[in-house]
Amino acid sequence: MTTASAPGKIILFGEHSVVYGRPAIAIPVDLVRVAATVTDLADGRPRVHVRSRMVGVDAELAELAPDDPLAAAITEILHSLGVNGPRVEIEIDSAIPMAAGLGSGAAVTIALARALSEHFGQPFPAEEASRIAFLVDRIHHGTPSGIDNTVIAYEQPIYFVKDQDPVPFRVAAEVPLVIADSGISSPTAESVALVRSRWLGDRPAVEAMFHSIAQIVDSARVGLESGDVAAVGPVMNANQRILQQLGVSTPQLDALIATARAAGADGAKLSGGGLGGNIIALVASGSRSEVAQALREAGAVNTIETSLRP
Ligand code: PMV
Repeated sequence: MTTASAPGKIILFGEHSVVYGRPAIAIPVDLVRVAATVTDLADGRPRVHVRSRMVGVDAELAELAPDDPLAAAITEILHSLGVNGPRVEIEIDSAIPMAAGLGSGAAVTIALARALSEHFGQPFPAEEASRIAFLVDRIHHGTPSGIDNTVIAYEQPIYFVKDQDPVPFRVAAEVPLVIADSGISSPTAESVALVRSRWLGDRPAVEAMFHSIAQIVDSARVGLESGDVAAVGPVMNANQRILQQLGVSTPQLDALIATARAAGADGAKLSGGGLGGNIIALVASGSRSEVAQALREAGAVNTIETSLRP
């Protein structure tokens, strides 16, 4: 029996514009993980049995549609490993909510890649797990930038530009964060399509917004790498203003963001696709647990308190 896991992720800066070639910053979220367990089945015909309570699957791999994301992930991983006719049961157990901007899709594929490659004695480099998770993410939402699969496969904070090698970075001082789930599930494909239609409707205006976000991402990186954490909060607020203009925030997200700021966060914004999902707040000077409590009282269904550490 072999078990391996992969973390969730959260985007700190630069969602959406990252799809259009601008930079973004994302970090792994270790407190929520997906575990995949591979067990050899007793003798019999070759078969792969897949179980995932999260998506309600308890079936033979051969019974799943080829474009089912789980089936596609397992098939691609076995192909990459050169494993033919395996007899295994695969169980996926996830603590990452789906469609919430925490990277659950990429984390499932990477946990599977780690567990299967280890089980068959050929551990994958991060790059290969990332490549397969990118292919599967395309089934989920068509035109992924690649940031989810990259940050989860490398499992460290990254500065990311599409089609370029990811740049891992370290913060110079602790960055305390609160992540709060609005409880509204929002498939990334919808918000990505919304931004695409705005971009098609008024390309110069939306490109100008993307340009401003790129500047925000770069100044956030300077603040994080130099340890000027307090300066990063207002930069987060500036990113949120542009996401609002892009149309991917909602009254519920705006209300949670306002709550976080009122409770002492230095900055807050939505994270991921938007239209639901999670918000993130940076709490450099105030109390992280007070901000988390205020967010739960304001309707967040879950909060995660985490930190980026030097
Ligand atoms: O998967 P999510 O909801 O964290 O969103 C991904 C971020 C986007 O920039 C909106 C899409 C992408 O592929 O980068």
